[in-house]
Amino acid sequence: MIRLFLCCFLFIHTAFAETLPQQNMVASAHPLATKAAIDIFKQGGNAFDAAAALALTIGVAEPTGSGIGGGGFFLLYIAKENKYIMLDAREMSPTLARHGEIYQTKSSIDGPQSAAVPGLIAGIDHLITKYGNLDRKRDTEAAINIAKHGFKVSQHYQRVAQWRKDVLKTNASKNIFLHQSKVPDIGSLIQQPELANTLERFAKFGADDFYRGETAKRLVADMKKDGGLIRADDLETYQLIEREPVRFQYQGFEWIAAALPSSGGITLAETLGILKDDKLGKLSEVERTHLLIEAMKLAYKDRNQHLGDSDFVTIPDLLNEKRLKKLRHQISMNKTTPSSSFVADPSGNGVDTTHFSIIDKEGNMVAATLSINYGFGSAYVSPSTGILMNDEMDDFATQIGKPNAYGLVQGKANAVAPHKRMLSSMSPTFILGKNRTFIVGTPGGSRIISMVLLAGLEFMHGGNDVSAWINKPRFHHQYLPDVVQHEQGAFSLQVSKQLQAKGHQLKPIRNYGNMHAIVWDKKTGQVFGASDKRGEGVTATFTVKTQSSPVK
Ligand code: GLY
Repeated sequence: MIRLFLCCFLFIHTAFAETLPQQNMVASAHPLATKAAIDIFKQGGNAFDAAAALALTIGVAEPTGSGIGGGGFFLLYIAKENKYIMLDAREMSPTLARHGEIYQTKSSIDGPQSAAVPGLIAGIDHLITKYGNLDRKRDTEAAINIAKHGFKVSQHYQRVAQWRKDVLKTNASKNIFLHQSKVPDIGSLIQQPELANTLERFAKFGADDFYRGETAKRLVADMKKDGGLIRADDLETYQLIEREPVRFQYQGFEWIAAALPSSGGITLAETLGILKDDKLGKLSEVERTHLLIEAMKLAYKDRNQHLGDSDFVTIPDLLNEKRLKKLRHQISMNKTTPSSSFVADPSGNGVDTTHFSIIDKEGNMVAATLSINYGFGSAYVSPSTGILMNDEMDDFATQIGKPNAYGLVQGKANAVAPHKRMLSSMSPTFILGKNRTFIVGTPGGSRIISMVLLAGLEFMHGGNDVSAWINKPRFHHQYLPDVVQHEQGAFSLQVSKQLQAKGHQLKPIRNYGNMHAIVWDKKTGQVFGASDKRGEGVTATFTVKTQSSPVK
């Protein structure tokens, strides 16, 4: 079993008086989604209502990355209970997928057979009914309106539609997401009338409609007709789970991150656990970068080999302190250790998914990362419900030893089994310092974890310049392929040369990630937030006295 290591620093954040946030703040990947959340605050909703409205809205307005045909993780801080909790709304494998035999001959990415049982609507209903101030109707209103009246095509939409155009080919998908089978023009409207009806039923009857009611009936009929695997008993047995997040101390800060079936929390804890005694801030840039790369490599190797749904498989004690020390001793400061000298399976990367961060004036916080995977998910829309289905089955090791769409070759721990949840990299995270709290996350497949790691280290360094931290060029190593992927500008010419001299193979890649983060300064009550310049997102605040004001 996983045992979390304790740092030598005793961290007592409750000993300091906290000033509540002066404003409600929302940072998300789409302007309409940020607006929907701000409007909820105006109506007296709290952070959890805002998160519900945002998750529903962004699923309509950014269908490339999430939606009610998918799933995700909501990391919550419930201020009045002083409680941290993770809502696990990850998809579950349908029974008919058995042990993944179907994926020997059929795609686990494109088409209805690649869809697992969606979890998002269960998560959203739970958020509203257990933690929200407002009712379902109000929290769903904006999403229904956008589905009915449409959202405008953006550059991001065009880019992903161009990429997935050839698989958006069923009548329902093509009619909604393309115009006359072509990528729609910028500014043209995408309307989803059948999805609006489904959302209206959700507003009235809740998740029950989706898993046991009219929507369930329609979805199963479409699945049967079109070759999907989801059946009524799969929907009926879907379970939303409240899980304890992964919590660990690192050099005076407490990190609170997503638990399995997300690999995020454990991989962050392992990477930083390996470096527990290194004073990263005192090292030269090249030494610091080298150490981070080597630690990432070791932690990702374990991720791919050992992690899976902890309700199904036993996870070894990867965070054992002695083990972490041993791993640290394997790292040479002079040269990189080639991945080929380890025995394990390779990893990969991904794009799609979405993240948002929210804080309210009571100190409630939400970090949520949601996904339908791989740009428009399965590209299959259930015609009678208007739901774009995920292709999250591809996050399993559908064929042991063979790479999935992102080149991930994972172990048996993540093999397909009925009702099992597939391993994820989504890593919504809170980092608590003595006087400051950070709410962070991003899409980006297996690179999510290293992005959160780098942004978290920037936060720990001090200041409140969220925008500078999240827009800094990134680097990443995921064990295999044995290369340091990096954005342009991540390393100076001199640092590149020094890293190469240590044996690192550097591979420039195009920009990745779309991070949305908030800092709460607990001394002053000020909140600072930013949306990644790589995306189209917006961060905005709302106070009762003033109007909402975009900060990006
Ligand atoms: N579908 C992306 C992830 O869960 O990691």
